[in-house]
Amino acid sequence: MKISVLGSTGVIGTLTLEIAERNGIEVIGLAAGRNIESLRKQIEKFRPSYIAVEKEEDARILGKDVLWGEEGLIALATLSEADVVVIAVSGTAGILPTYEAVRAGKRVALANKESLVSGGRIIINELKHSDSVIIPVDSEHNSLFQLLQYPEKPEKVIITASGGPFFREKPENVTIKDVLSHPVWNMGKKITVDSATLMNKAFEMVEAKWLFDLSPEQIGVLIHPQSIVHSIIKMRDGSLLAHMSLPDMRIPIQYALFYPERKDSPAGSLDLSELETLEFYRADPEKYPAIGLGYRMLKSLPSLSAVINGANDQAVEYFLQGKIKFCSILDVIIKVSKRHQPFTPSSIEDVLGLVKEGKERVKKIIGEL
Ligand SMILES: NC(=O)c1ccc[n+]([C@@H]2O[C@H](COP(=O)([O-])OP(=O)(O)OC[C@H]3O[C@@H](n4cnc5c(N)ncnc54)[C@H](OP(=O)(O)O)[C@@H]3O)[C@@H](O)[C@H]2O)c1
Repeated sequence: MKISVLGSTGVIGTLTLEIAERNGIEVIGLAAGRNIESLRKQIEKFRPSYIAVEKEEDARILGKDVLWGEEGLIALATLSEADVVVIAVSGTAGILPTYEAVRAGKRVALANKESLVSGGRIIINELKHSDSVIIPVDSEHNSLFQLLQYPEKPEKVIITASGGPFFREKPENVTIKDVLSHPVWNMGKKITVDSATLMNKAFEMVEAKWLFDLSPEQIGVLIHPQSIVHSIIKMRDGSLLAHMSLPDMRIPIQYALFYPERKDSPAGSLDLSELETLEFYRADPEKYPAIGLGYRMLKSLPSLSAVINGANDQAVEYFLQGKIKFCSILDVIIKVSKRHQPFTPSSIEDVLGLVKEGKERVKKIIGEL
């Protein structure tokens, strides 16, 4: 098997390369952002034929054939020799590569949720007209993908949320360090902040809608701090089918690369007798405003999700730069969402424009504060 990995220097990218090495997968493409030292080591180890980075100056340092920018990412997402394209870049930078990989008929192992949140309708429409297949890497969706192999359609699907670091206490005056200390998962900074605000779950609700063609009423969320049960499907006869595994992203990554084949676990297996407890709590939209936003995005015309996605990207960046407080992240996103009049975007360019609009609106609001 030959793969191309976009976002190779990130958490998911690094784990993907670990799985590749363990299984003798040939890595023919590596794309990263600005972590050139880490990328250099990966290049030495995997000797890929194609390399891309975010900035032209970094491409020049690395060598004459190194691609850069949006075009570089798209080139690596559409390599004709790649059997699987892993899209693990973070944030809205993943939208175009995902769209183009699908149009090129690639088999896509998709970690980047922002692409479907913003451009789900358009990407899934392309998917229906191409030979492409999307295997979700996101643990909840990878889990649903497995459960939905069951022949009968469920009445409802439930994705779980760990609740993040502030599930048991109110997040008042928290520092960037507090926010980045996730109790269960080791993730990149942006998604760790999204997990703390629960925007990550709101985005996953939208991701589920597009991936599995679900109505808003069919999607539910449960807070489950242990992150052992990743999703549940509810059948009409009252049965609940749950998918469980250790919370280790190597498991869904490996599944996405080899589906439908299963390989030996790269991360040990779950011993239920060692677990003290499995807790589940209602994800009340009144208590968790991000979950409320998730339901709004599910019910609204799709432009709203793209604008919220852009707004979230910008607000999280400002938070990580120390420019806004943690509690302001959701405040500004809600403000932006209320000022937007939803409609159905007709092209991927429209989607990118909406993401930009969301970012610009946050910049304006922060300037006004
Ligand atoms: N981590 C998880 O457990 C997890 C679980 C489910 C889904 N996801 C999703 O998977 C994606 C990646 O998450 P992560 O935790 O791996 O994030 P991460 O550690 O922050 O890694 C992000 C990767 O994307 C690269 N990148 C960012 N902007 C880029 C650009 N403009 N051009 C090229 N490369 C760019 C980064 O490069 P540099 O570091 O070189 O700058 C890095 O390789 C996110 O969409 C996230 O929501 C993650």
